[in-house]
Amino acid sequence: MANVTLTIDGQKVTVPEGTTILKAAEKAGVKIPTLCFLEHVGLRHIKHDVGACRVCVVEVEGKKDFVSSCNTPVEEGMVVRTHTPKVIAARKLNLEMMLSDHHLDCPTCPKNGICELQAICAELNVRQIRPQGEKKDFPIDDSSPSIVRNPNKCIVCQRCITACKVLQTVDALELYGNGFDAVVRPKGGLPLIETQCVACGQCALVCPTAAIVEKDDTWKVWEAIADPKKHVVVQTAPATHVTIGEAFGLPVGTDITGKMVAALKRLGFDAVFDTNWSADLTIMEEGYELIHRIKNGGVLPQFTSCSPGWIKFIEEFYPDLIPHVSTCKSPQQMLGPIAKTYYAEKKGINPEDIFVVSVMPCTAKKYEAARPEMNAASKYWNNPNITRDVDVVLTSRELIRMIREAGIDFASLPDEPYDPIMGEGTGAAQIFGATGGVMEAALRTAYEVVTGKTLPKLDFEDVRGMKDIKEASVNMNGVTVKVLVAHSLGAARQLMDKVRAGELKDYHFIEIMACPGGCIGGGGQPIPTTVEERENRIKGIYERDKKLKIRKSHENPEIQAIYREFLKEPLGHKSHQLLHTHYTPRGKK
Ligand code: SF4
Ligand code: SF4
Ligand code: SF4
Ligand code: FES
Repeated sequence: MANVTLTIDGQKVTVPEGTTILKAAEKAGVKIPTLCFLEHVGLRHIKHDVGACRVCVVEVEGKKDFVSSCNTPVEEGMVVRTHTPKVIAARKLNLEMMLSDHHLDCPTCPKNGICELQAICAELNVRQIRPQGEKKDFPIDDSSPSIVRNPNKCIVCQRCITACKVLQTVDALELYGNGFDAVVRPKGGLPLIETQCVACGQCALVCPTAAIVEKDDTWKVWEAIADPKKHVVVQTAPATHVTIGEAFGLPVGTDITGKMVAALKRLGFDAVFDTNWSADLTIMEEGYELIHRIKNGGVLPQFTSCSPGWIKFIEEFYPDLIPHVSTCKSPQQMLGPIAKTYYAEKKGINPEDIFVVSVMPCTAKKYEAARPEMNAASKYWNNPNITRDVDVVLTSRELIRMIREAGIDFASLPDEPYDPIMGEGTGAAQIFGATGGVMEAALRTAYEVVTGKTLPKLDFEDVRGMKDIKEASVNMNGVTVKVLVAHSLGAARQLMDKVRAGELKDYHFIEIMACPGGCIGGGGQPIPTTVEERENRIKGIYERDKKLKIRKSHENPEIQAIYREFLKEPLGHKSHQLLHTHYTPRGKK
């Protein structure tokens, strides 16, 4: 590729042809402010440069109008000025135009403190709003159990459209109207819940304002904790072990497991359990299901079922492939009914009084917990007073807010252990938090169950990392088990099209995670969740796996205990009652 030399603020800089002015300026050590631009939307190869906000404008000699630097390629001999009084004034005016019809209730806004619009106004020293428009007056859409849309705070940057359409290929959002009336809304102006939205929350991660946020359920948890009749238990998902600390100033990927347990105990929960425990349980059920399908000519490849955004995606877009999906519930939905049956019995607590809270990296988990069929404990006891298996799902961001509300100094907390019965998790469960982790955990167990031999090498490096689609194979008693791993729904779609076309018949198991990087990049995780954050969190996940004494699900003593005392065997009668589920074909093909 040829090189281009240009001048930026008096400095000569040479960059490859096709480079944008923004990137060339970066090379010259000149920072141009941006707002709508996103270099990587979840995955390194997806960028968002529609040039909607015009905060990055610069002057180019010989051009009458300012140009947006984020999407204008350099030209040989170009002379660019990035911070002249005229440029600075234009940027400020563009921001003031955005603010002129915006509901500026920052102190009570869900994005207060982490809002990119607020931050850029501070950075560019915006001190007044000269154009005064009518304030937007759109209704707030809280139809989804996962996501709240406040179009009055939309600055039409369209990042959410790129996340939904390009990254996830769901395409639930659209740009509607012009000029001051322009807004991003669900397709056809429908409430979000009536669209094909899968509740993944990737739009909320990239939205620079509070126009798309997670639904806040923290008050329900405060009320349950304060209710003396309720025995409130909480479970924490694998990915939260390495992400919550970011919000309290700890390096990205720091293992804060013990501190998180301590914080939850101080918040007043009666018992603190680990979703890693039920991730191990999932591996037992899902691993045995895979072995059963391979031995008995079942539908293959088997698809994992732990990511609720992915489940809604297959129900919407590939309903004909539902028989491939494992019938195992996700770890969240396994722990819920076990808390209200096995744990209730062992502790002598009326299951009606048990209130199960989850701390999840994921907005779609709220949707999953609300699915009508997720009331296995109620059916088990034949008691309609037990309603949901999981009563409330909090995202990582909501737990962070509760910790702050309670005035807990998180970074100084001592490490505390989980409570017994459902508190022990292995390294295999820990890696559920990263893309490829469920697959690797399943292989660690399936290999030893099928061959009766110890796995020579525990780490399946081939299924790790941020490549969109990865594959591996392992020989089990003469059968070469072939597996595929995909993260992001765009990558899932590529695989599903091949399965539909009959091209992946010789594969046995496919893991899909709806979010890039897996759960560590979930829609409920701390913001920002950039590609760099995702990669550092993944490192934290594997470091914790290495640190744990037990690294295979079938070796977890608390899992061995529940099979001995209650479930009896994987895929048995009680397992089917409590731990397995069915799916609902919903959408178009
Ligand atoms: S979105 Fe940002 S600028 Fe708008 S009200 Fe909220 S905090 Fe303030
Ligand atoms: S939650 Fe996911 S599927 Fe729904 S609109 Fe946002 S990005 Fe699209
Ligand atoms: S909803 Fe958020 S991400 Fe989407 S266009 Fe509006 S401000 Fe941008
Ligand atoms: S950042 Fe370039 S137009 Fe918005």
